[in-house]
Amino acid sequence: MQTGRGNWNSRLGFILAAAGSAIGLGNIWRFPYTAGENGGGAFVLLYLIFVFAIGVPVLLAELAMGRASERSAVGAFKKLVPGGLWPAVGGLGVLTGFGILSFYSVIAGWTLRYLYLAIMGTFKGDVTAATSGPIFTNMAGDGSMAILLMGIFLLLTILVVRGGISGGIERAAKILMPVFFLVLIAMVIRSVTLPGASQGIEFLFHFDFSKLTAAAVASALGQALFSLSIGMGAMITYGSYLPKDINLPVSGFIVALCDTAIALIGGLIIFPALFAAGADPAAGPGLVFVVMPTIFGAMGGFGYLFGIAFYALLAIAALTSTISLLEVIVTYFVDERQWSREKATWTMGILCFLMGIPSALSQGAFTWLSSTPERAFPGGDFLSLANIVFGNYFLSIGAIFICIFVGWKWGIKAAVEEMSRNGKLPVAAMWSFMVRYVCPVAVVAVLIYAIWTNSYL
Ligand code: TRP
Repeated sequence: MQTGRGNWNSRLGFILAAAGSAIGLGNIWRFPYTAGENGGGAFVLLYLIFVFAIGVPVLLAELAMGRASERSAVGAFKKLVPGGLWPAVGGLGVLTGFGILSFYSVIAGWTLRYLYLAIMGTFKGDVTAATSGPIFTNMAGDGSMAILLMGIFLLLTILVVRGGISGGIERAAKILMPVFFLVLIAMVIRSVTLPGASQGIEFLFHFDFSKLTAAAVASALGQALFSLSIGMGAMITYGSYLPKDINLPVSGFIVALCDTAIALIGGLIIFPALFAAGADPAAGPGLVFVVMPTIFGAMGGFGYLFGIAFYALLAIAALTSTISLLEVIVTYFVDERQWSREKATWTMGILCFLMGIPSALSQGAFTWLSSTPERAFPGGDFLSLANIVFGNYFLSIGAIFICIFVGWKWGIKAAVEEMSRNGKLPVAAMWSFMVRYVCPVAVVAVLIYAIWTNSYL
């Protein structure tokens, strides 16, 4: 304990918690459905480029800011460069946290429902896209059910965040993330051996750039930031609990590798099974929920157990992500507004619940918020709109300012020093160049390109 705020107990504990934040519905739900809507291969390649050229440098910048300042997303800016408007960037991050948590907990709620359905044996036997489709539509279209599920999920999140840093978060992540990995690997094996699976692999890895639209470029960038949990100060917050003797660049890189691997594994589960089942890759937010059950059906006797394990672990992976989203908000109120953790957690958790209601009602329950043949929000239903606005655009804007702050305002030298506490950073010069020039320019260019071609949603 160096700060009295609590700390991660070990390097492994930190890596698992940060990977827990990064790995979540973004990998298993958002990545496949976004890749499906954007034509597959070219989107995937671009996503990979963005992860390593922009995501990793920004991730390290956030962790360095957090550890150097030992403050929240807002406090870090204040402490590193007193005065000025920079803390507003952290404020934007806290706002983004509310925005993402509001729709994210709706999807997370769905995983609880699917866990229940798996236990009840709903996915036994011959499940096809034709039978699993209506199961999803009925659930998502039931407004009170969606709100209830979201509420339960936020309650679970609140209960963990209340307990403080290493008490709850670290212990849970340590045990369950490796188990999740093993279950996913087994599912990949089943999916890629289904008849017709090769079409799915082709869809994911055939890089046809003629299909690439400006919207796909912006979505690939947004997905890279979203999946790594960067662009809103979540990694500033997590870095602030990072002990000084932990090797920051190595830990950050490991987190990014694990996260990307799980996203690709998610794709390798979904797309082969999707083509085997004859479903539509561009089905939208329900994609994973429609396709996954067909795999359990095809797993024979083991399918029942795998179904339960998968949804239980997916719910937990989502929980380690919602924890980090709420933690950003709570750390801000605790550090900057001197609220008690208890009060901040309950108040903000309940606020997120209220903010999530429109998204919960947007899958058919309330026509005005849903996407209908007559009218739709830009990007589809209300949930999809929130997903794009907060998950792509707010994160992109946050990432630009974080780069400018670290590269030019706080100072690249101070940042490199923070990262080199445990031995020299071998790629310091390259990292500095990326953070100062390449990343901010590239993100601005993508945003301008998307707005210019009028395809930003
Ligand atoms: N990265 C998580 C996922 O892929 C979602 C998430 C958690 C997040 N915390 C975040 C996204 C902070 C952006 C910022 O599911």
